Amino acid sequence: MPPNQTDGYMQLDKRTQQILDGFDAHFEGKPTHLAIAPGRVNLIGEHTDYNDGFVLPVALDRDVRVLFRPRADGRVRLYALEFDSWADFAIGSEERDSGQLWPNYVQGVGLALAELGVQLKGFEGIVSGNVPRGSGLSSSAALEISAAKAFLAAANEIHTLTGPQIARAAQKAENEFVGVNCGIMDQFISTLGEDGHALLIDCRSLDYQRVPFPDGVSLVIGNTKASRSLAGSAYNERRGQCEEGVRLLRTVLPSITALRDVGRSQLEAHKSLLSDIVYRRCLHVVSENERVQDAVAALAKGDFKMVGQLMDASHASLRDDYEVSSGALDSMVEAMHSHPGCLGARLTGAGFGGCAVALVQAGTEKEVRETVRERYAKAMNVWPEVYISAPSSGARVLPLFSGEGDDRQA
Ligand code: GLA
Repeated sequence: MPPNQTDGYMQLDKRTQQILDGFDAHFEGKPTHLAIAPGRVNLIGEHTDYNDGFVLPVALDRDVRVLFRPRADGRVRLYALEFDSWADFAIGSEERDSGQLWPNYVQGVGLALAELGVQLKGFEGIVSGNVPRGSGLSSSAALEISAAKAFLAAANEIHTLTGPQIARAAQKAENEFVGVNCGIMDQFISTLGEDGHALLIDCRSLDYQRVPFPDGVSLVIGNTKASRSLAGSAYNERRGQCEEGVRLLRTVLPSITALRDVGRSQLEAHKSLLSDIVYRRCLHVVSENERVQDAVAALAKGDFKMVGQLMDASHASLRDDYEVSSGALDSMVEAMHSHPGCLGARLTGAGFGGCAVALVQAGTEKEVRETVRERYAKAMNVWPEVYISAPSSGARVLPLFSGEGDDRQA
C-alpha cells in the first residue's frame, strides 16, 4: 500500500478513515496500528463444535476494527463508536464494567492472554464494527479477536501465540469472563479465515484444512431481525442434553468421550438407552458431522447441487431434531428457496433467530436478495437485511506508518 501523500499514513479505506476521525476526536496525537477481525457465517456443521466435531465456516467481509496505539501505563482505554461509550481498565483487573457488556470481551481476552504468559502492555484507541450485532454472525468473536490482536501488537508479542492459541484464549474469555458457554468455531474462523476459502475445522484437535470456495456459487445471508432471546438458555440446555447422551452411551461404549466418537449405526443400536429427546439431539450431531464431511467432498467435486441438499438436510435436522429453528428462520429459508438460483439454505449459528445462509448459483445473488426481501417481508411483516458475502481473510494487524505488511497467522 503506498503512503497517503498528505498525512504520512498508509492509504486508508473509507471506513478506517472514519475511524481515524473518531480517533482524532477523542485522542491527541496519532494511532500506530489497525487490528481487524471478521465475523463469520457457517456453511454447515451446526452445534457440532462443543461435541468435538467438525464445522465448515467462512470469514465474512464484515469485521470489527481497533485503531490504537500502545500505552506505557498498563491501562486499556477504548472508545466504541457504535456504542458511544468508553472502556477503561487496568491490565490484570478482574473487576467488571458495571454498566455495559462490550468492555468485558476485551478485558476477558486480556486476562486469558496473560494467563498464557504473555507480558501485556496497555493500549488506547477506537473500536468500530460493521458485523450486525446479535444476529448470529459472531460480532462478539470479532471483537474478542480484534482485541487479542491489539493486545499482542501493543506488547510487541504478535508472533508469540499461534492462531489456535489465540482462538482458545478468546473462547476462554467468553466462557469464563463474559459467561457465555460457546464452542471454538467463531473465534477460530475469525482468527484463521482465508480469503476465498472455507475452513474445515476439527474442533477436537484444532487441525484445519482450507477448502477453496468455488467460483460457480455465492453466499446470500438473510437476517431475520428476530431477537435471539432464547439462545443463551436453550444453547446450554442443548449442550447438557448432548452430555447426557454421551454419559448414557458410555455405559455400552466406554471408549467414547464426545458425540464426535459415535457413529450413526452405534447410535441406532443403543437408541433404547436414551429418551426420545436426547436421542434426537444426538442424531442431529452425529448426522451433522457426516454432512460436514460429505459437503467438503461435494465441494471438491464441484457438486454444488449436493452441497445444497446437505444444507437443506442440516436445516431440517436443526429444526426437527435439535429444535433450534424458529418461525422466522424457517420463513427465511423458505424465502431463499423460492428463487430457483438457491441451491440450499439453512439457519446459521446458534439458531432461535438471527441469520440463515443460502448457497446460490453465481450471478443470481442480486435477484435472490430481492426475492428474499419481498417474500420474507410479506410472510413476516418485517423487512429483513440481506447480505451478499464472499469468504474473506481472518484477523490481522496492520502497522499504520511502515511497509512491514501484516502479521497473518501461519
Ligand atoms: C454459536 C457458538 C458456536 C457454535 C454455534 C452453533 O455461534 O458461539 O460455538 O456452537 O453457536 O454451531
